[in-house]
Amino acid sequence: MFRTHTCGALRLSDVGKEVVLSGWVQRIRDKGTLLWIDLRDRYGITQLFLETGLSDQKVIDKARALGREYVIRVEGTVVERESKNPNIPTGEIEIRVTQIEQLNASKTPPFTIEDNTDGGDELRMKYRYLDLRRNSLKNNIMLRHKLAMQTRYYLDSQGFLEIETPYLIKSTPEGARDFVVPSRMNPGEFYALPQSPQQYKQILMVSGFDKYFQIVRCFRDEDLRADRQPEFTQIDCEMSYISQEDILNTFEGMTRHLFNKIKGITFDTFERMDWHTAMKFYGSDKPDLRFGMAFVELNDLAKGKGLGIFDEAELIIGIKAENCAEYTRKQLDALTDFVKRPQIGAKGLVYVKYNTDGTIKSSVDKFYSPEDLKLWTDRFGAKPGDLLLILSGNTDAVRKQMNELRLEMGNQLGLRDPNVFKPLWVVDFPLLEWDKETKRYYAMHHPFTSPKPEDIALLETNPENVRANAYDLVINGVEIGGGSIRIHDRELQRKMFSLLGFSDQEAQNQFGFLMDAFEYGAPPHGGIALGFDRLVAMFGGQDSIRDFIAFPKNNAGRDMMADSPSTIATAQLDELQIALKATKKE
Ligand code: AMO
Repeated sequence: MFRTHTCGALRLSDVGKEVVLSGWVQRIRDKGTLLWIDLRDRYGITQLFLETGLSDQKVIDKARALGREYVIRVEGTVVERESKNPNIPTGEIEIRVTQIEQLNASKTPPFTIEDNTDGGDELRMKYRYLDLRRNSLKNNIMLRHKLAMQTRYYLDSQGFLEIETPYLIKSTPEGARDFVVPSRMNPGEFYALPQSPQQYKQILMVSGFDKYFQIVRCFRDEDLRADRQPEFTQIDCEMSYISQEDILNTFEGMTRHLFNKIKGITFDTFERMDWHTAMKFYGSDKPDLRFGMAFVELNDLAKGKGLGIFDEAELIIGIKAENCAEYTRKQLDALTDFVKRPQIGAKGLVYVKYNTDGTIKSSVDKFYSPEDLKLWTDRFGAKPGDLLLILSGNTDAVRKQMNELRLEMGNQLGLRDPNVFKPLWVVDFPLLEWDKETKRYYAMHHPFTSPKPEDIALLETNPENVRANAYDLVINGVEIGGGSIRIHDRELQRKMFSLLGFSDQEAQNQFGFLMDAFEYGAPPHGGIALGFDRLVAMFGGQDSIRDFIAFPKNNAGRDMMADSPSTIATAQLDELQIALKATKKE
């Protein structure tokens, strides 16, 4: 028998019991006549104890031969500790060891298996199996499991069926780049790995499975960031005979269930905001509503006084940082540098200080009288002590820049508490977006998204003003999920494809099977997918999803542990009839 208990189980009430434990050696403290070993497994750490004279010398010798991360099995008696450790659940007891068996040796690990490890990112990725032994990662993986179980529990209770869809599918040109897989049996032909099960879940609706879900891996060959992995997991759902309201309510219910079960948090309301409002007041389709600082527009007050950057600007907007009028020159310069960074791209930053003594001082005093500036502070509802930060430029660009500045101020002022959660539905997204480079429309969500019925007429005359029945779930400025009501009418779908620049033939080639299926009685339907990794990371209080995935890729898309991607043998390439382009050796 390897164990009667785990390393996290024993308490004072177990004193006197004969026990068997197995686990990894966390550390050994050898004080000559006394020797302690911390034994670790998934459940915790238990202290083992040996003493010259009391313990068998052979057993002591065996203990001395152990090293960090050795795997051992011990027998012994539970005793009360003399000096207790209140920081761990087993801290009141220790095991007086009678037998030690070394089950396996270990090389010295390349970094310490401690909460604060000395290992750098790349090293820990290479030895991921060791990193996963650390509490922080282990807890993240356990949190992920809990969220998956609660998700399944909730959706099952609502009548959803979990149905798997294929991973080898047909490549489609919309959205991100596909990862492709060559077919040996069909030389020259390729499968694609799904960017999402979108088309299959819609087909399942045609098949009559009116509530589908799947916790499913998706693959996208796109640039990676902290919240983006090339393979990631969605909670993917689709429903028939429902309205947008039904979907929002169902997934609001799921989100409430998860927060309640896992964090003990209940929400009063889920705010809703239409896309235009989000862009106008927050410059983002995923505003962080943990704090205010909504944008205030100043065109009518600030133009026409001779300040070139304002007079030429399409839009002048500002935010109010409460109680920041005391900001020093250095602090304001740092903010100016922040907005001028190439990634943000503002030309400069204008500030107005509403001092506590009631005077108003700005970086543009030459152009504006105190009376002019008082009108500005009034519009912001500013109080003495507040600071206004103002940017100008082209509408879309300046809103994006101000979004970055607002988030930065939120960080600086400690307004983005990871223990506060503000869920928000962003609704009424535009159906299409115009791409200047390729001079064509793209579907903002995807080409199966339905326009709002009242906007359908605009498809002919004013496509960019057509709103979609599309929605995103945003929590704390993170896009957790998105979905839409779908087009279930073949004619409307054809019109959509033609707006997106597909000929009938191209549409038939790419999406024929879905369009064919729609000829056999497609019910009205819609759905949503939540980014599961992002959701877990948010529950874990972090922005990066990497440490909530057991085996993630690094930012260059590499699996550092397995060292993939990698080249394959010529024979394998030949079998697939793939010829590599000769690559120049450096
Ligand atoms: P969408 O493309 O918005 O919608 O994806 C849904 C959610 O998946 C998460 N996500 C990602 N997470 C980690 N890494 C990535 N590379 C990544 N890309 C997306 C986000 C996002 O909100 N089929 C539609 C859903 C539908 O209409 O039902 C879809 O895939 O949290």
